[in-house]
Amino acid sequence: MPWIDTHAHLQEHRFAADLPAVLARATEAGVERIITIGIDLPTSRSAVQLAAQYPLLASAVGIQPNHVSEAEPGDWDAIVTLAETDPTIVAIGETGLDRYWDRSPFPLQEEYFRRHLALARRLGKPVIIHCREAEADTVRVLRETIAADGPVAGVMHSFSGDAATAEQCVQLGLLISCAGMVTFPSNTALREIAAAVPADRLLIETDCPYLTPVPVRGQRNEPAFVAHTAKLLASVRGISPEELGHLTTANARRLFALSAN
Ligand code: NI
Repeated sequence: MPWIDTHAHLQEHRFAADLPAVLARATEAGVERIITIGIDLPTSRSAVQLAAQYPLLASAVGIQPNHVSEAEPGDWDAIVTLAETDPTIVAIGETGLDRYWDRSPFPLQEEYFRRHLALARRLGKPVIIHCREAEADTVRVLRETIAADGPVAGVMHSFSGDAATAEQCVQLGLLISCAGMVTFPSNTALREIAAAVPADRLLIETDCPYLTPVPVRGQRNEPAFVAHTAKLLASVRGISPEELGHLTTANARRLFALSAN
């Protein structure tokens, strides 16, 4: 079964002691590729370093909205230079907007979101969008930049919005990625949304080490567990896990221009 974990944070300290074993379990579970994602300059640098070291990995670089107020003056320029030059980078992000944690001033979050969108567009790479309790503003910024500068490819990662937002994002050309939250018993609405995403717009991810899916909740999340989310998604969409694997893997390869391993 080919799976692609489109969103992981393998550079986090919780993987420092056993990353080779984590990657071996991923391969054993059928994960053919993992995108490890930066949330600031240091973790973007380490994402690139890990992807150079392990062929199973690709990387994404960016400054996540909760971290934009901590960015040093040269950090954005360094992200741009990395994105322009490093061959392991398949996407820009994660970026986006977040009112849940409210750790950075919202106008600064929006300015960085627009910078990431412009960089992604200039380099012809997809953008990885984090959105938490900021759906209307995320759609507004996307609409404005698409109207002004043209389409941008990308994904709403770890989607947690409502059905209307999902539909608006699909209309804007984006993909919708489901993480372990979709397996939590209380998330009926999210399962209904996941069931309705067009087949060519659906991605899967772990967002590990966070958001561990049922039935392994309570453990540290890791890429091998993407299979649990995938099986749940297959059942809510009324297709086999094999079909779900093939379609989400094809979508991820297309969006991130990943070669088949
Ligand atoms: Ni993330």
